[in-house]
Amino acid sequence: MIIKNVNLETVCGITSAIPDNLLDEVAFAGKSNVGKSSLINALMNRKSLARTSSQPGKTQTINFYNVNEAMYLVDLPGYGYANANIEIKAKWGQMIENYLHTSKRLKAVFLLIDIRHEPSENDQMMYEWMVHQGFAPIIIATKSDKLKKMQILQHVQMIKDILQVEPGTIVIPFSAESKQGREEIWQIVESVIEL
Ligand code: GTP
Ligand code: MG
Repeated sequence: MIIKNVNLETVCGITSAIPDNLLDEVAFAGKSNVGKSSLINALMNRKSLARTSSQPGKTQTINFYNVNEAMYLVDLPGYGYANANIEIKAKWGQMIENYLHTSKRLKAVFLLIDIRHEPSENDQMMYEWMVHQGFAPIIIATKSDKLKKMQILQHVQMIKDILQVEPGTIVIPFSAESKQGREEIWQIVESVIEL
């Protein structure tokens, strides 16, 4: 995809309704700090349009980035942010599930997992829930620059094993630093959206 223009078109908080968009959407889910906003910036060739932070819990709304007036990249709040109070955590979970459940134009869901670590129970629950909802989540193994090349395949296999992914599930190593995986992700996005 050649990026001509991008803009943060809609921001949904806990009480806002999910927009009834006319363009296709792809969404990025994963625990806080896994690198969702950084991935979206890398896809858009922007440094900091999507706000990122080394502190977990940065994105607390559902953010719709309009790309080329052709589609949306959707940045979701992270789950499993330990410092949020229980009520807020539950609300974010509901927001994410409500979005995945009600969007009419959502064409693919990417689930981000930090390539260095075993997927958490929350990751496993989210993966299973997505499959149960009829999605075939594409896994992105983030921060691949943190591993040696030799370790990457091994960790990809570990993620597949722990999540017990459905046969044929794609796991893409990605780095917002080196941009490894960026083209492969765009290819998948372009194959699922109607342009
Ligand atoms: P929340 O909005 O809190 O849910 O987090 P997020 O998933 O959007 O993560 P974000 O993109 O804000 O990144 C979190 C931290 O990880 C930041 O300090 C980023 O710079 C860092 N980070 C993200 N992607 C990468 C990557 O590919 N490699 C490295 N080394 N660091 C990364
Ligand atoms: Mg974020």
